[in-house]
Amino acid sequence: MKSLDVLIFLGPPGSGKGTQAEILTDKLNFTHLSIGDLLRENIVNNTELGKLASNYVKSGELVPDELIINLMDFYITELKDKNGIFGIILDGFPRTINQAISLENKLKQLNVNIKSVLNLDITNQKILKRLAGRGREDDKPELIKNRLKVYRNQTEPLLEFYSERSLLETINGDQSEADVSSAIINVLKAEVA
Ligand code: AP5
Ligand code: MG
Repeated sequence: MKSLDVLIFLGPPGSGKGTQAEILTDKLNFTHLSIGDLLRENIVNNTELGKLASNYVKSGELVPDELIINLMDFYITELKDKNGIFGIILDGFPRTINQAISLENKLKQLNVNIKSVLNLDITNQKILKRLAGRGREDDKPELIKNRLKVYRNQTEPLLEFYSERSLLETINGDQSEADVSSAIINVLKAEVA
């Protein structure tokens, strides 16, 4: 059986992680796991997790590591046993060094490797323009600013973390969706051929 691939999508809010993850999921028969989508779903359904996460998501802060790590642990274990999936795209996880270390340990246990960490690079100015047109609850200008600050302080250190592990690939996120997607496929070609 083919081994499972894990791809990580890194990048600031609005960089196109979700958009590109969906495109790749269709093209490569991958499963898309978006922590943000999972959290929003739980908030709408008012689950225990939703109640715990709600204030953080609504203020653009990160949900505490412990909650997120348990959540990922559950989903990754479940997906590992699912047939017919060639890979998992992690969109928006990890976002802290603690989360990255936990993921590394979890994947080691499961004997799964991270194939690549794709960093979608884009300026703050472009992000503000993109998100202004979308209208999600956390897309108000002051919340976008906070999400960007949180990204720079807590998530950006992961670029060095994965660069040290020779896994980081930076893609220009400021191109058309199709061009970003082609750039990603080119980077992955060797691994998914
Ligand atoms: P999350 O839902 O992950 O939000 P985010 O990281 O802020 O990113 P977005 O989903 O806004 O943007 P995206 O990069 O997916 O871009 P998209 O494709 O949508 O997280 C939300 C919250 O959940 C966090 O603030 C936190 O509270 C919590 N959370 C999540 N993960 C966590 C974790 N690991 N730990 C702790 N807390 C966590 O594109 C954006 C827009 O641009 C769209 O309108 C799209 O149509 C458009 N667009 C996309 N690509 C292009 C293009 N190439 N050209 C023009 N427009 C484009
Ligand atoms: Mg997203």
